[in-house]
Amino acid sequence: MFNVAIDGPSAAGKSTIANLIAEKYNLVKLDTGAMYRALGLLAIQSNTDVEDEEAIVALFSDLNLDMKADGTIILNGQDISNEIRNDKVSMAASTASKHESVRAKLVKLQQDIAKQGGYLLEGRDIGTVVLPDAKIKIYLDANSETRAQRRYDEYISKNLDVNFDDIKKDIEKRDYQDMNREHSPLKQADDAVLIDVSSLTIDEVVAAISKIIEQKNEV
Ligand code: DC
Repeated sequence: MFNVAIDGPSAAGKSTIANLIAEKYNLVKLDTGAMYRALGLLAIQSNTDVEDEEAIVALFSDLNLDMKADGTIILNGQDISNEIRNDKVSMAASTASKHESVRAKLVKLQQDIAKQGGYLLEGRDIGTVVLPDAKIKIYLDANSETRAQRRYDEYISKNLDVNFDDIKKDIEKRDYQDMNREHSPLKQADDAVLIDVSSLTIDEVVAAISKIIEQKNEV
């Protein structure tokens, strides 16, 4: 079974698209960002400085993660699926993810999970580092205005009190951090197909990716 890599910046719609493609082609989806988020949450809960590489690596002894196929994320027996979806955890995850030894550990875990094939991994470095041999590599992108608008609409639909400019600033800050870190920064793999989702509907993005998968004669 083939593997699919989907990378791209935050709020480009990776999760929604990944869920639909995984369902359509019977692949198991792994949200690698959730693993960095679980680590970020542990750092916040234990008052660990996310800049301190050694201290963050030490947290791995408390990182018992169970990534359920339905997307539920269990950390040390607790369902943290919702708790990891906030801006504080996003930034903690992004900062913790810049450390080389932290990445090495999570990349190894991700590669072990995907090794028998039939997986769809979404993240930042899947096409470049985690699954360099993935048959299908997609890079989803959109300008920060569009991505901020999507995040804003999502928060408003959940009745959250949010400010568009703050959301946009946070997205741009995280983009900068993820794209400019020294170790495996976010970038499109040479053999990934770029899809700019700014003016596409979800159905159109799914159709574009389906075409790529089917053209590769894998289904
Ligand atoms: O995809 P996400 O927004 O849930 O990811 C949270 C952070 O984790 C992101 O800002 C950078 C980091 N990350 C990473 O470095 N590599 C990945 N494969 C996935 C996420």
